[in-house]
Amino acid sequence: MNLGLEGKVAIITGGTQGIGKATAQRLAAEGAQVVICARGQERLDAVAAEIRQAGGRVQAVPADVAGAEAAARIVDEAVRAFGRIDILVNNAGTSATGAFESTPDEAWQADFDLKLFGAVRLIRLVLPHMKRQGGGRIVNITNIGAKQPAAGSMPTTVTRAAGLAMTKALSKEFAPDGILVNAVCIGLVRAGQHEKTAAKRGIDVESLYETMGKNVPLGRVGRAEEVANVIAFLASEAASFVTGTSINLDGGASGVL
Ligand SMILES: NC(=O)c1ccc[n+]([C@@H]2O[C@H](COP(=O)([O-])OP(=O)(O)OC[C@H]3O[C@@H](n4cnc5c(N)ncnc54)[C@H](OP(=O)(O)O)[C@@H]3O)[C@@H](O)[C@H]2O)c1
Repeated sequence: MNLGLEGKVAIITGGTQGIGKATAQRLAAEGAQVVICARGQERLDAVAAEIRQAGGRVQAVPADVAGAEAAARIVDEAVRAFGRIDILVNNAGTSATGAFESTPDEAWQADFDLKLFGAVRLIRLVLPHMKRQGGGRIVNITNIGAKQPAAGSMPTTVTRAAGLAMTKALSKEFAPDGILVNAVCIGLVRAGQHEKTAAKRGIDVESLYETMGKNVPLGRVGRAEEVANVIAFLASEAASFVTGTSINLDGGASGVL
């Protein structure tokens, strides 16, 4: 299937590990020009070099999307490098789960700053470019807990539910401008965050994945490339009538559609 991504310009936040990296590589392989951002400069440089080596075009922007000034810098760099913005993938995020009683204001604020305001500010700034160009694609990465919040999942399931509400509202608000807004709800996928967890617990990451996979109907944890495939579809011409929806990417783990 021709995804029609040749020459498109895509911003992917958190593009240096896991799902973001796989998405940047996939979109670049489809001929898109990609702008990746993350906080860690070393990994940013390494991933940009990998994409270039594979023949892709990439601009790497060091940025913490939880900060109020990051969005303007990312969008400015994207336009300076590639002249337009067609696709925004709000992916940067991290696991933040705990009991309500042990979640202080700072943890709530940090999660909203990263997962909600990071996306809000970028969407606000890409909007004029997408409107002027006659359309665009926004894909918000969330978590299956947004639809089916569990005990002890504060603050993440609340910030993710906000992301889903924003996805639906903006899909309606931006539809007249041809801007399609969708979400992907992730279950368990191989990524940097699980490598960190394994290292903290002093266990091998493969045995962590094996344990986690036992609770997934398909019997395993997903791969970042499997998520990237769906994001590439949502960003593509093949998804031209898809907006205001969310896709669970969880090997069947969620109990809701
Ligand atoms: N993997 C899963 O099982 C799973 C499950 C549910 C939801 N998700 C969601 O899926 C998304 C991708 O997760 P992943 O598992 O692929 O993560 P990952 O492997 O840990 O990678 C996270 C990426 O985001 C960047 N990042 C983190 N905080 C950032 C910030 N404040 N500003 C800019 N970049 C930032 C990281 O780079 P730096 O650290 O250098 O900034 C890295 O590139 C996240 O939103 C995550 O919450 C993942």
